[in-house]
Amino acid sequence: MDKNEEIIQLLKTYNQEHIIQLLEKLEGKQKEDLIEQINRIDFHQIMELYENTKKEIEIKENKIEAIKYLDKEKLTKNEIETFNELGEKIIISGKYAVVTMAGGQGTRLGHTGPKGTFKLDVYGKGKYLFEILAENLKEANKKYNTIIPWYIMTSKENNEMTQEFLERNNYFGYDRNNVMLFEQGELPLINTEGKMLIGKNLKIKEASDGNGGVFSSLRKRGMLADMKERGIEWIFIGGVDNAILKMADITLLGMAIEKNVQIASKSVVKANPHERVGVFCKMNGHPKVIEYTELPEQMAEEVDNNGELKFGESHIMCNLFTIDAIEKISKEPLIYHSAFKKNSYIDENGREIIPEEPNSYKFEAFIFDSFELFDDIAILRGKREDDFAPVKNKDGVDSPKTAKELYEKYWERQK
Ligand code: UD1
Repeated sequence: MDKNEEIIQLLKTYNQEHIIQLLEKLEGKQKEDLIEQINRIDFHQIMELYENTKKEIEIKENKIEAIKYLDKEKLTKNEIETFNELGEKIIISGKYAVVTMAGGQGTRLGHTGPKGTFKLDVYGKGKYLFEILAENLKEANKKYNTIIPWYIMTSKENNEMTQEFLERNNYFGYDRNNVMLFEQGELPLINTEGKMLIGKNLKIKEASDGNGGVFSSLRKRGMLADMKERGIEWIFIGGVDNAILKMADITLLGMAIEKNVQIASKSVVKANPHERVGVFCKMNGHPKVIEYTELPEQMAEEVDNNGELKFGESHIMCNLFTIDAIEKISKEPLIYHSAFKKNSYIDENGREIIPEEPNSYKFEAFIFDSFELFDDIAILRGKREDDFAPVKNKDGVDSPKTAKELYEKYWERQK
């Protein structure tokens, strides 16, 4: 069988005849590009993911317990000193790195472009989300007399724009040699019949594979090797959209070291049972986060003997990993979650169809699904007003307006 026939056979096996038709119409570079893409895609994996969309998510069968945590407020003076000393030592000795996951677009926010380029209207003049992060890290650098290597995960879609934006703004004064951008992976979008969508560029339409793609991308893009070369031992991984995210918290870091765990996370108490945050728990003895989209109503509302939400420790995307943990996770396949969304596509007559209702599945890995690979996690409960000012929605809760208020109040208190 020649190469062409092999490809046609493959597409037939996976019921992608519409792609065969497209291939027949294309010539030259366009055809080559599509073939290259077909060779890269794992059709078996995508079809498995498609089959999984027909199954219900079953949480009930598992043994679920509340997670244990330490409350930062209630730590003794001695505990704080011990943790801080341990954490500080790692940062001062240059063994600490930060990863910002900035692959998401600000769609919910109504912002066109990478989310980090959104300007939060603080102190009149405003600050970009990337600027806020850079300032936070520069402050840590000053405090600990070091330069923390800063890795920024972008997506295929926004990599160029992110790069240009940071260049144009001189990396907000961050040492250029210590900022590394790397792209996350993509997966095809698939319709309800299991057919891959075709995009305007006459290729198979793909979308970012979720923030859980961070681990394998760190490895594939050479960032893990770079970290090893620099002697990094601990890595903080955070999002781009929390205006008061603490990326170098020595108490959290020291607590993880003292507890001899490979992963750690900061939580805050859930504002109400239906807040759109993931919540920590232990499932079958392993740490886990159940995402807000998948948390059963009854679990969301369950209270313990103290009247607190049983699953009330929110995941605020403030996570720490040892380099060994990242290495381990980067080699394990994480599960993918599917989201049913509206996605435009090109039909068999070459027309662009813009659906009014959701028409296709997007597959995403979630960063916290990696927690289950470990026996334990150290959780430090922080304080909402000190740790969590999310910028998610255009208006209402978790909007630029609420984040601005939280940001300004936080900095007012630091004076
Ligand atoms: C996320 C968390 C949720 C948590 C909440 C806190 C996940 C899956 N969910 O929800 O548990 O309570 O934040 O604010 O982590 N990103 C990428 N690439 C992608 C997708 C996302 O880099 O493919 C980045 C975004 O740029 C952002 C972060 O991941 O920095 C969060 O992504 P988003 O999809 O907005 O998560 P939420 O639904 O807000």
